[in-house]
Amino acid sequence: MAIRIGDQAPNFTQESTEGKIDFHKWAGDSWVVLFSHPKDFTPVCTTELGEVAKLKQEFDKRNVKAIGLSVDPLNDHTKWTKDIEETQSCKVNFPLIADADKKVSNLYDMIHPNANDTFTVRSVFVIDPSKKVRLILTYPASTGRNFVEILRVIDSLQLTDGYKVATPVNWKDGQDVIIVPSLQDEGEIKRLFPKGYKAIKPYLRVTPQPNK
Ligand code: BEZ
Repeated sequence: MAIRIGDQAPNFTQESTEGKIDFHKWAGDSWVVLFSHPKDFTPVCTTELGEVAKLKQEFDKRNVKAIGLSVDPLNDHTKWTKDIEETQSCKVNFPLIADADKKVSNLYDMIHPNANDTFTVRSVFVIDPSKKVRLILTYPASTGRNFVEILRVIDSLQLTDGYKVATPVNWKDGQDVIIVPSLQDEGEIKRLFPKGYKAIKPYLRVTPQPNK
C-alpha cells in the first residue's frame, strides 16, 4: 500500500551511520525530513547531502531532524561521508540509513521499478511530531532536489497548523497569507486577524502573516 499524506508514517528499525535507529523513537517530538537518494558515490547525491548538512541551523530552527537513506551498505556510507565532507566543505551532521536489505525502501515505496529496479528514487517525506505524513515528493535520479523549498513547505505547514490560514503561490515566511474559506464569521475573523484583511474576492481574502 502506498503511503499518502495524512497517513501514519510506518515505524522501522534499521542500521545507520549513527547506529541502529528505531525511527519513531529517534524522531521523538521533532518534525522529520526522511529522504532517499539513489546511490552512494554519485555526484548529485553528494551535493544534496552536503546541502542538507549546511542547512542544519535552518532545520534546527524549525525543530526538524533530517535523515537520509540509500540501499548501500553501512561501510560505503561511512567511506562516502568522508568524500561529502571533503568536497562539500561540511560535516555530515545527520544519519544515513544503510538500507541494503531494502526494508525501509520497500516500506516507503521508494523503489520505482520502471525507473530503476534496484535503486531508490529521490523520495522526500515530511513527517510531523505526531508521526503523520505531511508532504511527499518524488524526484528522478538525475534531478537534485531543492531543500530550501522543503524548508518553505515546513514553514507553511507549521504556520497553517497554528492559524486558520493557507499560503499562496510562491509564499515565503513573512509574506501575506490567505484566510481559509471555511472561516466566515466576521467577529471571529476580526479577533483572529486584528491587522485586518483585504477581500479580493469573497473566497480570496489576504491578511498579514498572523505570527509576525
Ligand atoms: C547522482 O546522484 O549523481 C545520480 C545517481 C543515480 C543516477 C544518476 C545520478
